[in-house]
Amino acid sequence: MRVQVAIIGSGPAGLLLGQLLYRAGIDTVVLEQRSKDYVLGRIRAGVLEQVAVDLLDEAGVGRRMHAEGLVHGGIELCFGGARHRIDFEQLTGGKRVTVYGQTEVTRDLMDARAAAGLKTVYEAENVSVHDFDGAHPRVRYLKDGVAHEVTCDFIAGCDGFHGVCRASVPPDALSTYERVYPFGWLGVLSETPPVSHELIYSNHPRGFALCSMRSLTRSRYYVQCSLDEQVENWSDQRFWDELRLRLDPQAAAALVTGPSIEKSIAPLRSFVAEPMRFGRLFLAGDAAHIVPPTGAKGLNLAATDVRTLAHALVDFYAGSSLGIDHYSARCLSRIWRAERFSWWFTSITHRFPDSGEFGRKMQESELDYLVHSPAASTVLAENYVGLPLDE
Ligand code: APR
Ligand code: PHB
Repeated sequence: MRVQVAIIGSGPAGLLLGQLLYRAGIDTVVLEQRSKDYVLGRIRAGVLEQVAVDLLDEAGVGRRMHAEGLVHGGIELCFGGARHRIDFEQLTGGKRVTVYGQTEVTRDLMDARAAAGLKTVYEAENVSVHDFDGAHPRVRYLKDGVAHEVTCDFIAGCDGFHGVCRASVPPDALSTYERVYPFGWLGVLSETPPVSHELIYSNHPRGFALCSMRSLTRSRYYVQCSLDEQVENWSDQRFWDELRLRLDPQAAAALVTGPSIEKSIAPLRSFVAEPMRFGRLFLAGDAAHIVPPTGAKGLNLAATDVRTLAHALVDFYAGSSLGIDHYSARCLSRIWRAERFSWWFTSITHRFPDSGEFGRKMQESELDYLVHSPAASTVLAENYVGLPLDE
């Protein structure tokens, strides 16, 4: 098979890139190691910055997001037994976010790809990338035991944190920066109305908690847990009891509980690999960087990487290689800002095992300052709704 761009991974990064390139007349194949149902079964975050909303519109897949997504003009911070609203619209000149699950974004992109009849290979095994230091890269894989080879102009490594693309780069060509946090998030999805009409981020002596949602009838909740926690040890009842303890009395009383439809534990990590281009191989999304989920930046960063990459490839085929030459630097400046925000927001909302009494007092004081100073609130608000794109 011969294509212009071989895309590895059918997460939001790979699928969105495929859709943007399709609309620009560039031919792609998407190679995914898992099945379609497996990819759609993964529950991930679901808060879209306006930049991501605009990009899904540009890709022609925004219809359901506008119909079903929930537009939020703020969040609530809960600490010391009370909630404090951060009003994004007021602090950022009218900016808002859209709550729409990553699973739904993925489904919309898969449907668009299928409707356009574009090539996607699910359950592609042993994907390997070759010769990306020259002008004729190749990708090999096995499908149903049969070996295949794709020749292409470019390879897009959209294969997530554990993917093969970053791992195929010579180690001395790559610098990595990482922080692994000493806790995880235990998450529950339930067919229950959200406890509040906006998201609640709570810092409580028992640990962080987050009340989020997927729709007006489906909720997503998280509690900070230790890394050695087992999901089997968390009955639904235990989860609801723990969540209630970490909320203010009014939210605790309003919480509607029900059977969980998904329950899982995720570790928290900050990670960046530099650069994001190696000859004709580009990394995008989780393949190049991870943020802790506290600021919901993962999907948004993947979307802006892919936007930059799609524009760079379109420019390349129109005769300019400036875009591909600047791809890595352009993405990384935005990525590091989101890394900083996600790290900071994690640091003020979670309980750290080794921060000591002084650390705890600093956290309390920071939260107090945050909700009482418009300057400090604006820092949170402008980062949460998404920093402007550097054009
Ligand atoms: N070969 C083919 N496909 C692979 C391989 C491989 N060797 N390794 C991984 N994949 C696939 C995974 O199965 C997955 O479907 O690549 C895809 C990567 O998708 P995501 O992990 O969703 O990453 P990305 O598309 O960059 O999306 C970023 O996802 O993890 C969240 O917080 C993150 O919201 C952000 C978004
Ligand atoms: C979610 O809805 O899953 C979610 C929302 C906001 C976050 C993280 C996760 O910061």
